Amino acid sequence: MRVLIVDDEKSIRTTLKIFLEREGFAVDTAETAMQAMDLVQMESYDILISDIIMPQVSGVEFLEEIRVSLPDVPILMMTGEPTVETAVVALQRGAFDYLYKPIQKEALVKTVKQAAKVRELALQKQALEQEKFEYQLNLEAMISRRTADLDKSMQSTIKVMTSLVDSRDPYTSGHQIRVGNLSAAIALELGLPAFAATGIRVTGYLHDIGKLALPSEILVKPTKLSRYEFEIVKTHSESGYNILRELSLPWPVAEIIYQHHERLDGSGYPRGLTGDEILLESRILIVADVVEAMASHRPYRASLGLDAALAEIRQHAGIYYDPDAVAACLKLLGEKGYEFENTYYEASFIGI
Ligand SMILES: [Fe+2]
Repeated sequence: MRVLIVDDEKSIRTTLKIFLEREGFAVDTAETAMQAMDLVQMESYDILISDIIMPQVSGVEFLEEIRVSLPDVPILMMTGEPTVETAVVALQRGAFDYLYKPIQKEALVKTVKQAAKVRELALQKQALEQEKFEYQLNLEAMISRRTADLDKSMQSTIKVMTSLVDSRDPYTSGHQIRVGNLSAAIALELGLPAFAATGIRVTGYLHDIGKLALPSEILVKPTKLSRYEFEIVKTHSESGYNILRELSLPWPVAEIIYQHHERLDGSGYPRGLTGDEILLESRILIVADVVEAMASHRPYRASLGLDAALAEIRQHAGIYYDPDAVAACLKLLGEKGYEFENTYYEASFIGI
């Protein structure tokens, strides 16, 4: 432990230094409070012992200044006037204890050792706080690393699932990505928050995943489907729901997919939901799905054209399709010149 003694009397400084060095303390001395202040800036002390009455800066003023810069260092005051008032003032200003002059060796050593214990505890507390602080920092860094890893692996899972559908249903290759992108654009056009639009984008990328459960003869059939075959195709909404319902995502992706062929008037499938029973996300998705499907070329038929696609949603706005979603889609593809996007955008699953 390192002690600084401040006293204007040389004999006291020397005597105290000898007493304390014999007890194993490292001791520095200062003649004035100013000199002590300089030393305190340069060196680290565990205990300070200061005279109360000194020329220039008094011990009490010194005490007050030191308390601010070194709050955990015990300060012992020495007084030549053994009055209760002086002692009280010193303690009130934050002194650890006081010693009366002439200083008795036993009293000095006993008090300094007590101060040393207090200092030791303060140092231990500081070390624990530092440890706790570092632990929290590590924990936070670890959590954000793990969260980023999870986010990345979820993104890869979605991407794999999207390409799985494309590989099994080559006729509609890229359909899900274009629908996802258009759905997100419609959501943003409707003023939905960015994170909700991301959810709709992800759902669009996956919306036909239920086709994985369809027989491949139907998927690759180059001619128009029979009524019976079309009934089988209709099961893909529920299959998609069943495939995705266990996947933990921040949006109701499975349910949106379950409802993506429902129409406002109840003529959709599989459950014939009506109006507000259908999730807004599904109402957006169906508009994007119909427009992209009609505007795209298929091996078994030429593209019906964007105009026919837009005419379809315009004609059935408020009947099959949500009128706001239709209006937003028309605005995008009409005056805003939106073009179908084949880019797969990585979507972060962590809220923005
Ligand atoms: Fe579909």
